Amino acid sequence: MLQLRINKLVFENIRSHELSDVKIHDGITIFTGRTGSGKSSILIALEYALFGSESGISNSAIMRRGKQTCKVELEFNEDGDNYKIIRGLKKSGTTITTDVNNMKILKNGSIIPLIGRATDLNEKIIEILGYPNDVKPKELFEITSYTKQDEIRSIIELSAEKRQDYIDKILQLAKYKQTWENMKELIDFFGAELLAKSVRLENYERLQKEILDIEKRVIDLNSKIKLNEKELSFLKENYNSTRQSISDLEQKYRGLLEKRRSYDQLKGSELSLKRELEKSKELLDNLLSKKSAFDSDFSNIGVVSEFEELQSKNIELLKTEELLEKEFSKIKNDFNEIKRLGKGKCPTCKQEVTEKHIHDLEKEFSKLQEKLRYEIDDTRKNQKELEPLIINSKKKKDIQEQLERIQSSISERKSHIENTEKELKEITSKIEMPDGIGKISDVEKELNSIKKQETELFSKIQSITRENSILNSEIEDRKKEFSQKGSELVEMEKNRSELQNLEQTIQILSRMREDIRNIREIIRNNFLEDFKQEFQKKFEEIRKYEEEYSVDIKNDYEPIAFSLSGEEVPITNLSGGEKTSVALAYRLSLANLSAQISAIKPSEILILDEPTVGFDQEDIKALPTTLKNIKTIPQIIIVTHEEELKNAADYKFEVKKVSGKSVVTAI
Ligand SMILES: Nc1ncnc2c1ncn2[C@@H]1O[C@H](COP(=O)(O)OP(=O)(O)OP(=O)(O)O)[C@@H](O)[C@H]1O
Ligand SMILES: [Mg+2]
Repeated sequence: MLQLRINKLVFENIRSHELSDVKIHDGITIFTGRTGSGKSSILIALEYALFGSESGISNSAIMRRGKQTCKVELEFNEDGDNYKIIRGLKKSGTTITTDVNNMKILKNGSIIPLIGRATDLNEKIIEILGYPNDVKPKELFEITSYTKQDEIRSIIELSAEKRQDYIDKILQLAKYKQTWENMKELIDFFGAELLAKSVRLENYERLQKEILDIEKRVIDLNSKIKLNEKELSFLKENYNSTRQSISDLEQKYRGLLEKRRSYDQLKGSELSLKRELEKSKELLDNLLSKKSAFDSDFSNIGVVSEFEELQSKNIELLKTEELLEKEFSKIKNDFNEIKRLGKGKCPTCKQEVTEKHIHDLEKEFSKLQEKLRYEIDDTRKNQKELEPLIINSKKKKDIQEQLERIQSSISERKSHIENTEKELKEITSKIEMPDGIGKISDVEKELNSIKKQETELFSKIQSITRENSILNSEIEDRKKEFSQKGSELVEMEKNRSELQNLEQTIQILSRMREDIRNIREIIRNNFLEDFKQEFQKKFEEIRKYEEEYSVDIKNDYEPIAFSLSGEEVPITNLSGGEKTSVALAYRLSLANLSAQISAIKPSEILILDEPTVGFDQEDIKALPTTLKNIKTIPQIIIVTHEEELKNAADYKFEVKKVSGKSVVTAI
């Protein structure tokens, strides 16, 4: 605990104080004064000097209102050295912050170098005071040395739970509690991990089985594929031989068809030749009957001259007639010319034309005319006679010609018939019913059935091939699945060993956690024993002259009192003063023990702000003796408004407020 001995406190612009200066000595120092005079402010200044202001404590509750700066200087001895702390605040705008220029610590008159931050000063002080690193110094100070106003009795009036928390704090059990709680989180975290891993491991066997199933399936698939391939090769062989049979049969079929076609062709030719022959014979018959008709016509016409002869005779006659006509007209012309001329030379005889001549000529002309006429008539008569002869002759000639033509047709037809008959004979000799033609439909049927077989084989081959490709792709899929699951399994195996590690870790942690809980219990129990003893000792010291009650502490730290007859009396039933005595004893024993626990020396200073709350006059009167009996603490500072307490004081100060400023005067 604090070994410090305060020598002097000077403070400027702290709350109601503008500038105050207080010297402290060993023994009991008492500050009295009226309500609001500025007593507590002195303690606030002291605490600020030691520990500064923490977050949460408003600097404005320290600096005097209306001021721009404030400052405290605290001089104390610690372990034979003299220290001086200087701290201050400054205001800029509305914010009040640490004034780094007013932040110093001096050891035996020399400044200890600081980097300039408030935390450095605090750390230095903690180091000087010998406080452990893991406590809140202000909190420890308030437990061990400084009981703030209104807090003297609060400790025993707390609820059991809060009291326990408070004492746990003193025992620094919070660390264990925190650790205990943190460890639960840690264990829970690992537990969750464990659970997740074991859930994953639940799948381990399933995965293993799945992998085996995949392997089996792949084997099945492969053997199925092999079987299919065997069948496939068998089917293909079959298919090929079927195709061979088909092509053989088709060839045979085509051969047969070819034979039948040429047979049919020959038959057709034979038939048409026969028809032609019949027709030719019919035609010949016609020709022959026509001929016999013409023959009888021809013989009926009788004997006639040759037609040409008669014809040329006739032409001759016609010529003669024409000549005669010509001659006649010439003579007639000549005559008419001569007659027209009347004189001149005759164009015929070249004689001179005379009357006589004309006359002779006329005579001659008439004679000639008559002669010519006669001749012409004769010719014409001859001609007329010739005409029926010519007609007949022509008729006969025509018939003859026709007969000739018919005859030639007949002989033509005959030779044609002859040729046709020859041809027919030839073809008929060639026609022969080929073998197997009757079986064409059988071959056809066979071909169809083999073709059907071929189609069936083909579709079977296709379906097996398709099936195999499906099986193969399944194998691919399965292999992929296999490798995926395999790596999952490897991962899981890793998990398994991790799981074991985790289980071990959790076990160790749980054991440790249990130990930590036990540590708390052990510490509490040990502490409780010491606490009881210390509490009873302090209570006896404080109430030396009152032997009405003895005290004890229950397991939950609740202080209890016993009457002389040994009856348990709850603290609430005690008088106010008795309660304060109990509280004081409780506080002091806690202060001592917490100092021990924190491995610091017992406190050498005790500061109590208004410790007489609830005291009656008798209690107040008794308190100075009580305080004087606290022999273990060299410096006791009491703030009170009870005049009575002055009697207990070695040093007395009065605090007054004069025109709004606190004034501290030693009395
Ligand atoms: N920042 C401040 N500036 C100026 N005055 C302040 C400031 N803070 C508090 N005060 C006033 O200072 C006066 C002294 O307060 P203090 O707490 O020291 O009184 P006290 O003497 O302990 O009174 P009580 O006997 O009632 O406990 C009070 O009137 C208070 O209101
Ligand atoms: Mg006060």
